[in-house]
Amino acid sequence: TGYITIDNGYKNTGATKSAITFLDGEKGILHYRGYSIEDLAEKATFLEVAYLLIYGELPTAQQYADFEYEIRTHTLVNEDMRKIFEGFPVNAHPMGVLSSLVSAMSAFYPDSFDSTAPEDTELHIIRLLAKLPTIATWSFKKSQGHPVNYPNNNLDYCSNFLNMMFALPVENYEVDPVVSQALNKLLILHADHEQNCSTSTVRLVGSSQANIYSSISAGISALWGPLHGGANQEVIEMLEAIRADGGDTQKYIDMAKDKSSGFRLFGFGHRVYKNFDPRARIIKKAADDVLTKLGVNDPVLDIARQLEEAALKDEYFVSRKLYPNVDFYSGIIYRALGIPTNMFTVMFAIGRLPGWIAQWKEMRANKEPIGRPRQIYTGATLREFVALENR
Ligand code: CMC
Repeated sequence: TGYITIDNGYKNTGATKSAITFLDGEKGILHYRGYSIEDLAEKATFLEVAYLLIYGELPTAQQYADFEYEIRTHTLVNEDMRKIFEGFPVNAHPMGVLSSLVSAMSAFYPDSFDSTAPEDTELHIIRLLAKLPTIATWSFKKSQGHPVNYPNNNLDYCSNFLNMMFALPVENYEVDPVVSQALNKLLILHADHEQNCSTSTVRLVGSSQANIYSSISAGISALWGPLHGGANQEVIEMLEAIRADGGDTQKYIDMAKDKSSGFRLFGFGHRVYKNFDPRARIIKKAADDVLTKLGVNDPVLDIARQLEEAALKDEYFVSRKLYPNVDFYSGIIYRALGIPTNMFTVMFAIGRLPGWIAQWKEMRANKEPIGRPRQIYTGATLREFVALENR
């Protein structure tokens, strides 16, 4: 009751108080629990950042060792989950598979959903962090017609993922430290971003006290959309299309400016950043480093640079404060690491998982009420029912 204001897309509506991530969109600042994204991306491991987000403080050496050990020893996924997986068509999008299988985890690990005992929640959290990379690699293996790899608990988080992706039973595979370090950085940069669409989804679903697997599965579905995490796949497809079309970046800029075209420059613009996305700055530099170190020459990087330069000079983009976002350069690195385009958004999901978990946990700890927005009704006023034969 009372006066209802409509805020489509929640552009100006705060949904919660949160102590996890600080973001200043005007200045282009991003902090996790008070630590700058630049510092964390340079110095931390992804699991340290996961711990920081979920528990509020950087772990001590002992806490880190315990946390990592727990995750390492929960990487196996119930074999019956594989049977569900095998039923998916070979060309299924890996994001659809991922959200389905995370949802299925609620059936395989149903213990203590309604428990308020912290140790029960902790186990669900560890399982999610440990098993998501395992499940994610299955889609890639199937697309190649190769057998899936089991996790190797001797490897660190990023190396284990890469090993499950790329090792084959017929040859030796060593994880290249350049590749695992680049992956570590990308995952950290994606780890949380306050009340974005997928995170708000996780909190909203979780606010009904739905279990954590269902809440995270809903977040994965929200992330898939091309305006959100799905943009990283769209960016590379767009850059490839520009290249195939003769490399005329101006043509695509003009198309993006023309509202009737229905085309947007993917990887540009952000709801909150009205300045450079600080993650994009770090990724752009990392893309240069990784390509040089791996000796990869990706012509699409030149197209990206040209597109960025042209857009940042264009009055349309300047006046609307549209800058490259996190998704603009990330695909170029993923490609250099050998990750196929349709897996890019899955990589985003693996990175964002600790953020979703931290936000879900905070929402429950704060005992937030069920999320239930209001509306202003615009439909028909009361009318009389007409029997079927008289219509
Ligand atoms: N290309 C062309 N025009 C754009 C773009 C773009 N990428 N982004 C925004 N605009 C225009 C938009 O048409 C509008 O113009 P006008 O004021 O004349 O109507 C103005 O800029 C403001 O845009 P908006 O759509 O009202 O802004 P929003 O806050 O609702 O949307 C966004 C933010 C990220 C969805 C949008 O910028 C977009 O669609 N970008 C492309 C998709 C993308 O890269 N998404 C990844 C976002 S970052 C990571 C993540 O969330 O996963």
